[in-house]
Amino acid sequence: MLSVIGTGYLGATHGACMAELGFDVIGIDTDATKITLLSQGELPFYEPGLDDLLRKHVASGKLRFSTNFADLAQADVHFICVGTPQRKDGNAADLTYVNAALEGSAEHAKPGSLIVGKSTVPVGTADGLSARLAEINPHVELAWNPEFLREGFAVEDTLRPNRLVVGVQSARAEEQLRDVYAALLKNEVPWISADLRTAELVKVAANSFLATKISFINAMAEICDAAGGDVTVLAKAIGYDPRIGNRFLQAGIGFGGGCLPKDIRAFMARAEELGADQALEFLRDIDSINLRARSRIIDVAAEYGDLKNKKVLVLGAAFKPDSDDVRDSPALDIAYGISQRGARVVVNDPKAMAPAAKRFPDLEFTDDLLAGAQDAHLILHLTEWKEYRALTPADFAKVVANKVIIDGRNALDGNAWRDAGFIYRAPGRPTLTPKK
Ligand code: UDX
Repeated sequence: MLSVIGTGYLGATHGACMAELGFDVIGIDTDATKITLLSQGELPFYEPGLDDLLRKHVASGKLRFSTNFADLAQADVHFICVGTPQRKDGNAADLTYVNAALEGSAEHAKPGSLIVGKSTVPVGTADGLSARLAEINPHVELAWNPEFLREGFAVEDTLRPNRLVVGVQSARAEEQLRDVYAALLKNEVPWISADLRTAELVKVAANSFLATKISFINAMAEICDAAGGDVTVLAKAIGYDPRIGNRFLQAGIGFGGGCLPKDIRAFMARAEELGADQALEFLRDIDSINLRARSRIIDVAAEYGDLKNKKVLVLGAAFKPDSDDVRDSPALDIAYGISQRGARVVVNDPKAMAPAAKRFPDLEFTDDLLAGAQDAHLILHLTEWKEYRALTPADFAKVVANKVIIDGRNALDGNAWRDAGFIYRAPGRPTLTPKK
């Protein structure tokens, strides 16, 4: 039997996937509303494929939920999956939930069981938790096992990971984790066994590298804009080198979401504490290039005339397509920035309008794109949903006040918009203007 502490995005996914691998799983969370929903087989957020797994295993009784830590007493391995948000007073990670999860599970864990951290934490956290665990329950050991799942592919990434990384303090702990993942290891998933500190670092280093690729290509976009090059062609050309690779080189308004931005900032804070000044400077540049990609789009929008009292249609609110997540969404950040310049901003998103409206109640939202475009001074494309690629530019040409579209994601067919009479502008690319 396994337990999962924290039943948010990571914990709900991990619990349902472990039930799919055949384990009995108990999910623990302090949020009673969430536990009630999950116990009824209902997912409080959108994630493709996870709803089916949850329903199936709740119905079969393999997956149960509780608000009571005492219910994890029978489990052999406990996974800590709680959040580590950015602290309100700076860049560092808030470890309140991780500490509480450790205390709660340590108190009830049976002798010989293993507590495994999956949350993303600053390097050195597991050492501190391990020392605390030894005080509360010396017959239980701590290990670390970072996750790398992407929203939209969480089930796939958990059941078919490209590697499994464990930080362990004994051969026995490694064996316990190998037992949990035995079904995946049959498929020859690479298994990397490390010390606690390295395992913690693998996660933040992986996210920082992905962030670096995006900020690199956005820095190239700035150069292309200044020099008159095309960053999409550049990215394609360098991406054929397998040492570089063609993924995560999509230039635009940069990265957002619940992980990459906060993880890079927490890493900066930890690098500073550790006196790793060069690493700190490097990470700071990645973060500031990323934020600059957002403000640049607002400046570009302003090039087409004063935004005051102008209507602007924003396509996209989620931090990436196929998600309803608006945490640190570049699209919403830009929409808000444009509204701060006095524009009347109307936002559309196929899935994320409700969470977006909750976060930014002063923005307008619409399901009707043509009504949103009526008399618009500008259209901004900020989340690359496939629905937006399927739009017919000529329909919009008939209703807008001003035929300008800014494609913040470099994802639309610029020629199609140009042919419908629009000026098509995208970061790092020459502007397309309608033929006379
Ligand atoms: C990320 C990591 O990919 C995952 O391994 C980790 O566990 C959690 O953080 P996720 O937050 O789901 O996953 O999003 P991801 O698909 O990585 O995209 C992050 C952001 O980068 C999005 O805002 C996306 O639009 C942006 N992005 C991505 C780019 O701007 N350009 C790209 O080329 C790729």
